Amino acid sequence: MRERVLIVDDEQNARDALRTLLVEEGYEVAEAADGEEALEALDHFAPAAVLSDMRMPKLDGRSLLKRAREMGSDAVFVMMTAYASIDVAVEAMRAGAENFLVKPLDVGAALMVLQKALEKRALLREAAGLRERVRERVRFKNIVGDAPELVAVFDVIKQAAPTKATVLLLGESGTGKELIAQALHEASDRKDKPFVKVACAALSESLLESELFGHEKGSFTGSIGRKEGRFELADGGTLFLDEIGEISPSVQVKLLRALQQREFERVGGTQTLKVDVRVVAATNRDLAAEAKAGRFREDLYYRLNVVAITLPPLRARKSDIPALVSHFLEKYATAYGKDVKGLAPGTLNAFLAHDWPGNIRELENAVERAVVLGKSSELTADDLPATLRGPRPLGQGAGSLIPGATLHAIEREAILRTLEMVQGSTIRAAQVLGISPRKIQYRLKEYAEAAPAEAE
Ligand SMILES: Nc1ncnc2c1ncn2[C@@H]1O[C@H](COP(=O)(O)OP(=O)(O)OP(=O)(O)O)[C@@H](O)[C@H]1O
Ligand SMILES: [Mg+2]
Repeated sequence: MRERVLIVDDEQNARDALRTLLVEEGYEVAEAADGEEALEALDHFAPAAVLSDMRMPKLDGRSLLKRAREMGSDAVFVMMTAYASIDVAVEAMRAGAENFLVKPLDVGAALMVLQKALEKRALLREAAGLRERVRERVRFKNIVGDAPELVAVFDVIKQAAPTKATVLLLGESGTGKELIAQALHEASDRKDKPFVKVACAALSESLLESELFGHEKGSFTGSIGRKEGRFELADGGTLFLDEIGEISPSVQVKLLRALQQREFERVGGTQTLKVDVRVVAATNRDLAAEAKAGRFREDLYYRLNVVAITLPPLRARKSDIPALVSHFLEKYATAYGKDVKGLAPGTLNAFLAHDWPGNIRELENAVERAVVLGKSSELTADDLPATLRGPRPLGQGAGSLIPGATLHAIEREAILRTLEMVQGSTIRAAQVLGISPRKIQYRLKEYAEAAPAEAE
């Protein structure tokens, strides 16, 4: 490809002579008679190099260079000046010119300077390209997948990361919301400042308030000393409000004010505190619907929903399953020091056929379990949880126990199978079975004690 050179000079003769020379040398050439024409040419012609006179009417060489940089041009500038003096040269270089030539031009020297300048630009561009690529890889190093649905998410992260905009992460449980929140922080210039997480659903209303905003000594029963809140701890960094859909109306009001004004008071305090935090919130609820139904403050919803990122469920991007499986396989084989190399033939089908209601977390757990239980260097379908192996053949499972087994054995089978179905959540299993979570925990303890001790 021929390189483009723009000649800027108010003297027609000087332009003509240079043009002839450069065209002969194989460059593609455009001309401008003053700085303003040159600006236009920078835009349309997008030259790799500009040979510009220093003294011109309207816009001189130095101002042209400055404006070119403002426009985002990365053309190299070689200045030409009839007033050969060290001052002018220094001035031009200080302004960012690559080199300068003294008029009348020495043809050989001019070509050499131009070629060197272009080579240097090519090197700089290559280095910048490499840096960019390296940065991208580092940025999302733990996030596996290249399904279009996920790549679209990466694009939004890249755009949103450098800003202070509040980000709302939506998506089913286990789709990677927390991972994305961390990636946003890592990709921002706040990455050396704290990333502070608040699990909003885990705390009672009053605890959550003091956790977020801190409290003064003796502000409520049980508060012993003064405590800094997470907003303060996250100053300069990112505050991740997980499970935001679960917070009570009164905390919603206080959060709204903190987000709107970036200021708040500690519980029981009067001093107004100001912080610089980037807020990222996540929920697996449909927050728009919650707001519409009056269960979540609409104003707070809009305040959080500046940039919304919806993470696709795993079943909507099954093409990522093979990469995810090998990622977790490697991770857990290393973690448990097991020599697992891959999947036995046909095993991947079980992964692909499953619907993954628990998304990536469910897949990660399935692989971890298989690595722990697996007896050979290749995982087989037998190492996978029953939910992935499809319906059990007749003659196995709880159904076949009836009649002929003790009620205790039938209950055990029912509890274990239901737990598998709900990915191990005792709360959900209890709901399905119509018993209390405590009863399940009690039974699990019993079963564990009854099981033969594992070989050390
Ligand atoms: N694209 C991905 N690549 C690799 N690991 C992933 C990816 N997405 C999620 N994970 C892993 O899956 C697990 C669940 O992800 P995460 O905790 O971020 O989900 P979540 O959306 O916050 O779920 P919940 O709503 O239940 O809190 C984590 O261990 C996370 O590291
Ligand atoms: Mg989470």
